[in-house]
Amino acid sequence: MMPVNRDFSRCAALSLRILFVLAGSVHSQQGSDSRVMDNITVRQGETVLLRCEQGGAMTHTAWLNRSSILYAGNDKWSVDPRVSLVALNQMEFTIKIEDVDMMDEGQYICAVQTSSQPRTTSVHILVQVPPKIINLSRDIVVNEGSNVTLRCQASGKPEPSISWNYISNSGGLASEDEYLEITSISRQRAGTYECTAVNDIGKDVQTVDITVNYAPAVAEGRDVGVTLGQRGVLECEADAVPEADFEWYKDDRRIFNGLDGMEIVSTGSQSKLTFFNASESDFGNYTCVAINKLGNSNTSFLLYFQDGSGSAMAVHAHTCLFLIAFVSFLLHL
Ligand SMILES: *[C@@H]1O[C@H](CO)[C@@H](O)[C@H](O)[C@H]1NC(C)=O
Ligand SMILES: *[C@@H]1O[C@H](CO)[C@@H](O)[C@H](O)[C@H]1NC(C)=O
Ligand SMILES: *[C@@H]1O[C@H](CO)[C@@H](O)[C@H](O)[C@H]1NC(C)=O
Ligand SMILES: *[C@@H]1O[C@H](CO)[C@@H](O)[C@H](O)[C@H]1NC(C)=O
Ligand SMILES: *[C@@H]1O[C@H](CO)[C@@H](O)[C@H](O)[C@H]1NC(C)=O
Ligand SMILES: *[C@@H]1O[C@H](CO)[C@@H](O)[C@H](O)[C@H]1NC(C)=O
Ligand SMILES: *[C@@H]1O[C@H](CO)[C@@H](O)[C@H](O)[C@H]1NC(C)=O
Repeated sequence: MMPVNRDFSRCAALSLRILFVLAGSVHSQQGSDSRVMDNITVRQGETVLLRCEQGGAMTHTAWLNRSSILYAGNDKWSVDPRVSLVALNQMEFTIKIEDVDMMDEGQYICAVQTSSQPRTTSVHILVQVPPKIINLSRDIVVNEGSNVTLRCQASGKPEPSISWNYISNSGGLASEDEYLEITSISRQRAGTYECTAVNDIGKDVQTVDITVNYAPAVAEGRDVGVTLGQRGVLECEADAVPEADFEWYKDDRRIFNGLDGMEIVSTGSQSKLTFFNASESDFGNYTCVAINKLGNSNTSFLLYFQDGSGSAMAVHAHTCLFLIAFVSFLLHL
């Protein structure tokens, strides 16, 4: 690849000379005129200087990237705008490569023809790239007992090492690998997992959330005593993912919100059935059913009569009716 504005015969002449220089250097491998410089390590995006000592009187000199000529003396052969000449004089021949990328890694050769003999100096550019997570599992929702595999792949040079950490609950190292495998996942392992890709020059961190679904489990209901005309509340608590929907029954009859001075309020894991003005017909056996797509669970409670002095007694419907009758009788005296 040579710039179009270059005169072809000039280029041809130059390349012949350079070939000559290279050929000369190959022939004299045994000699002291083929040098290897220390490797140059450069981070992606940075600029690297390639400096070649001329050692006084030079005639022809070139910088090559593998076998292609970047600069032959003052003449730029590379069409890459990132490559430019920094210095060319009796002492040194320096070019620079800006915004270095992975592709630039490799061997660069400075070929010099001095008055005495040809000489080459080679330098190896090593490009370092900070880790970048390029392929990460999405957040997932699974049912309890499922096998889960999370994936985290990262690019970078040197090759990053990858680890998974559990950062919810007790936390801890979960895997020292690109893959995190969880067999028969339990609800306790739900939460946030963090993938870390790290190499000598940096790290990248990303997280993945695992939601573990399970069927509702309701806490055992607590019977509630209430005085006639007073407020009474039945509370039902369910542990479920996704959150449960609640249904309330009195005996076998479904109760709907707003009926008969009652109110049902369900928020998150809890549902409350409130009687604003308890009457005898409210006393009885209530069942709360918590339902999600994985199943349901229920518990039953008694709403029972409790006299005003606070001493509690559970009453069945008959007893209650009897008491009401008795109170009415007393009132008529
Ligand atoms: C330079 O890097 C190359 C490629 O990674 C390696 O083979 C060589 O040993 C390195 N040389 C030095 C002097 O570090
Ligand atoms: C060096 O050569 C490689 C392979 O041809 C190329 O991809 C890269 O862009 C070159 N770099 C420079 C700075 O010329
Ligand atoms: C991510 O990994 C999956 C599974 O290994 C693969 O099928 C997919 O092609 C990868 N995607 C990218 C962008 O590398
Ligand atoms: C989960 O993995 C275990 C062990 O690898 C296997 O025995 C089981 O069948 C898997 N379960 C499911 C639901 O794929
Ligand atoms: C409670 O209910 C009783 C009988 O149903 C009624 O007489 C009374 O006015 C009600 N009290 C309130 C505060 O609504
Ligand atoms: C309340 O109703 C449930 C469901 O119908 C039943 O299992 C339970 O035994 C009843 N409790 C009482 C105290 O009657
Ligand atoms: C309550 O749970 C029991 C036992 O799981 C079940 O047999 C019953 O049908 C449930 N009742 C309701 C109203 O869902």
